[in-house]
Amino acid sequence: MQTVLPYQDEQPLPPVATIPSYLVETYWWAYVHPRAVRFFERQWLVNLILWGNFARLRDAALDALGVSIPGATLQVACVYGDFTVQLARRLPGDARLDVVDVLPVQLANLHAKLGPDPRVNLLHCDASNLALPSASYDRVVLFFLLHEMPVEVRTRTLAEALRVVKPGGRVVVVDYHRPSRWHPLRPVMRFVLRKLEPFAMDLWAQEVQEWLPTLPADAIRKETFWGGLYQKLVIEA
Ligand SMILES: C[S@@+](CC[C@H](N)C(=O)[O-])C[C@H]1O[C@@H](n2cnc3c(N)ncnc32)[C@H](O)[C@@H]1O
Repeated sequence: MQTVLPYQDEQPLPPVATIPSYLVETYWWAYVHPRAVRFFERQWLVNLILWGNFARLRDAALDALGVSIPGATLQVACVYGDFTVQLARRLPGDARLDVVDVLPVQLANLHAKLGPDPRVNLLHCDASNLALPSASYDRVVLFFLLHEMPVEVRTRTLAEALRVVKPGGRVVVVDYHRPSRWHPLRPVMRFVLRKLEPFAMDLWAQEVQEWLPTLPADAIRKETFWGGLYQKLVIEA
């Protein structure tokens, strides 16, 4: 098991070897380079990338977590925009939110957005190997993470999310999905995703459930948005 490091302000970037290769090779321009963080950390830009659907998808994920979000919640990976700020607003005073990310530069960026908040812990950790106890969270949320991962990492990440959630808790996933045939942006999105986010096409070809082979089919509720380009899954553990 790896050690979970609470994020500290002066924590240096880890050597490249500890960053998953798909982030360095495919997503350096979006997450790894400090200039990328400065460029993408704009609400209007993340909203544009989601064709104006950011707030709707953010709120769909947050509503599935609860109007008020008590107990312990795990957010797997940082998100540009105000996703975590809005999540934190729903936490009662005695609730806890842990956010894990494998890139310290992303944790630093989130730290700057949130400011000091004793309810929120930022943890330097790989989503596919969470050094966190089993059955320790009431809910887990993954917002647009799975489409960035190669299939083996995605499968392990889903297994880890289900491992750390308590029985009776839930895992909420929002991500890309195969749009309907008539969707006017289908060819554009196919081109863009193939060029920039190649692993995302897996979510067009397969159901997320296929990477959760041991989960009973009726444990997952799926809803699609905006002509099927996006999906929300609520998985009851
Ligand atoms: C949640 S995803 C994308 C979210 C969305 N596209 C947005 O607007 O930000 C991006 C984050 O996932 C993190 N990430 C990717 N792979 C990871 C892994 N294996 N473990 C932990 N964090 C990971 C990246 O470092 C980045 O901060």
